[in-house]
Amino acid sequence: MFPLPFLGHFNPMIKLAGIFHRSGFSVTILHTSFNPPDPSLYPEFTFRTIHHNNEGEEEDPLAQPEASGMDLVAFIRLLRQTYAEPFRESLTAQVGGGEKVCCLVSDVVWGKNTEDAAEEVGIRRMVLSTSGAASFCAYAAYPLLRDKHYLPIQVKDLPVMETNEPEELFRVVNNMVKGAKSSSGIIWNTFEDLERPSLMALNSELQVPIFLIGPFHKHTDSFLPTTKSKEDHVTTDWLDKQDPKSVIYVSFGSLADIEEKEFLEIAWGLRNSQRPFLWVVRPGLVRGTEWLESLSREFIDNISRKGKIVKWVNQLEVLAHPAVGAFWTHCGWNSTLESICEGVPMICTPCFTDQRVNARYIVDVWQAGVMLERSKMDRKEIEKVIRSVIIEEGDGLTEMCLKWKERAKVCLSKDGSSSRYLEKLVTHVLSIDSNACAS
Ligand code: UDX
Repeated sequence: MFPLPFLGHFNPMIKLAGIFHRSGFSVTILHTSFNPPDPSLYPEFTFRTIHHNNEGEEEDPLAQPEASGMDLVAFIRLLRQTYAEPFRESLTAQVGGGEKVCCLVSDVVWGKNTEDAAEEVGIRRMVLSTSGAASFCAYAAYPLLRDKHYLPIQVKDLPVMETNEPEELFRVVNNMVKGAKSSSGIIWNTFEDLERPSLMALNSELQVPIFLIGPFHKHTDSFLPTTKSKEDHVTTDWLDKQDPKSVIYVSFGSLADIEEKEFLEIAWGLRNSQRPFLWVVRPGLVRGTEWLESLSREFIDNISRKGKIVKWVNQLEVLAHPAVGAFWTHCGWNSTLESICEGVPMICTPCFTDQRVNARYIVDVWQAGVMLERSKMDRKEIEKVIRSVIIEEGDGLTEMCLKWKERAKVCLSKDGSSSRYLEKLVTHVLSIDSNACAS
């Protein structure tokens, strides 16, 4: 398996690795030397580091100061360029190592880069899409949108991101969609009931087998590291003391950053709402600051009576806690699915890429949340939205959320769609023509 080295991509890939492992496969993770995982957390798998160059002598281009200032599109370009050749060599070495390799699973964002490498060594290549099907539909429509001159104009809700390189964004997306079309199959971390229309559209558009085996993290024996930090215990103790469904949990995932001004509005909005809150302020979340220094000591002491600010939490555990009544989220796909699985209503403030499409679906299609657009995010609006979700419980929001929670459960039950797709996936991977199998 070849994950993209970002947490929102690595996490689902490692969970998929766990699902394959339980189905009887042995798994090797080829990972970049940039942002490497800790193999000791996952003793079931073999890890192989792909270095940015063969001799390991030159400086890592991704660790240079220019790279840290790049926007995400430029960074992904650099990532792909840096690792294309080392990946090819690593895969060749792996496959030539005497073991029978039946399949490569690469993150769909690596695009067609991984295709030639897989062909060269004669193994099947499947891709994992870590985002939802609805946003992938929008990505697949990029060429059409561009032909009609809709891009790079930002049509609201399109999965765009701010970039100085709009042409590169087009190339990355196009390459990703083409790479998916030429793969032997696409694995989705989603479930049929949730995204049926989008998946049907993709089925005819992509013309490759698709396997909807999500939500990954809810597979009965899905792989999860079990270690719990001291901070996790402190958070759980705090949640235990709160009333049922009273807490608003706030987190903007692992990549998004916000302006200091926005940060202060969030702080005031949370304070003024007078609801208990658990707020993840990741170091680096607020542009130009280390952590909480824009808040005065007095302000922190004041809000500490109602709320708790932490650097990181075990999100799966937090969302499953009975005290949590709403999730104010950036709508990353993992967060979206995790919230749906626990029946927690969402307040949606999407930041970039697929998050806008996810937010639109959460609000208008699944009716599992309300929108709080970033451009309208002042303290008054924040207070109003929080109250509408936590106190007034939205317009049937809670019922809809519980309905989705139930549907996710059904999909993963013995005869549910995700279980059936998993059986098909295992057969598909094993059905490889033995000549095409490296041994
Ligand atoms: C990004 C994109 O937004 C997402 O849509 C894409 O599919 C993957 O890359 P990210 O910003 O990391 O993802 O958000 P998200 O997809 O929600 O993933 C964040 C993960 O980190 C979740 O699995 C969440 O449980 C975990 N998390 C987050 C924690 O465990 N603790 C935290 O404090 C915050």
